Amino acid sequence: MSLEIKNLEQIFETGTSNETKVLKGINLKLDDGDFVVIIGGNGAGKSTLLNSIAGSLPVTRGQIKINGQDVTYQGVAKRARHIARVFQDPKAGTAPLLTVEENLALALSRGQWRNFWQPGVKSRQKKFFKEKLAQLNLGLENRLSAEIGLLSGGQRQAITLLMATLKTPELLLLDEHTAALDPKTSATVMDLTEKLVTQQQLTTLMITHNMQDAIDYGNRLIMLDRGKIAVDISGDEKKHLTIPQLLALFKNASGQELNDDAVLLS
Ligand SMILES: Nc1ncnc2c1ncn2[C@@H]1O[C@H](COP(=O)(O)OP(=O)(O)OP(=O)(O)O)[C@@H](O)[C@H]1O
Ligand SMILES: [Mg+2]
Repeated sequence: MSLEIKNLEQIFETGTSNETKVLKGINLKLDDGDFVVIIGGNGAGKSTLLNSIAGSLPVTRGQIKINGQDVTYQGVAKRARHIARVFQDPKAGTAPLLTVEENLALALSRGQWRNFWQPGVKSRQKKFFKEKLAQLNLGLENRLSAEIGLLSGGQRQAITLLMATLKTPELLLLDEHTAALDPKTSATVMDLTEKLVTQQQLTTLMITHNMQDAIDYGNRLIMLDRGKIAVDISGDEKKHLTIPQLLALFKNASGQELNDDAVLLS
């Protein structure tokens, strides 16, 4: 699926003394199957960009097209049929009191408003879920009837990803989906992300503060700096980058060091 963003602007609290221009004319075109990684300092506008694409934030100016169709003013619910999202908080993507299989059944019924989800999971579905969970290599195929709230953050985030892609979305939006996990679990969830994205050829936008992941994953890397795209690289140029080169690229384009908690801490 293709995504086209033209001159996107987001201004908060227009006309007040707190007016802030958070996105200042973003132009971005993604082709089918592109896996684009977004990095940038705190407050650069990364989440605002993803929220605009998902429709959870009304657009101030500009245009967003999905598969050639103008969705700029389309509601979030309608867009959710095509767009799957995963956030930083493992608790955000799953229903804690429902079991693993009930959560998966919910994900499977996404967008089927005529067929409201009913409690109870059919045995045919159970087999399907078991197969899918086994692919995660976390032993979760034996925990179909466990309450999701009892699982670890990494296990939940892996299931959230599985749920997001169970019905192939046209666009996958990941907003720091590994940031709350320890390094080892984060690596597991990143491997899983790559596997799912590649298997289903998903068009994907992923925000991360992990510079090594930004280099290792995806076919294109975008740096946002104070509401503008400062760097946009792809292919071999991206693949062969080192972290110091990446930070230098940012400094060159923006005139200042990348102001990013994760980089400061590393
Ligand atoms: N609904 C809103 N109303 C007012 N200001 C907002 C709103 N949403 C975001 N902002 C502001 O817009 C700026 C960009 O926020 P955004 O969340 O997009 O940054 P980010 O690049 O995702 O940063 P981080 O890396 O810290 O997650 C921030 O200054 C934030 O305070
Ligand atoms: Mg953010």
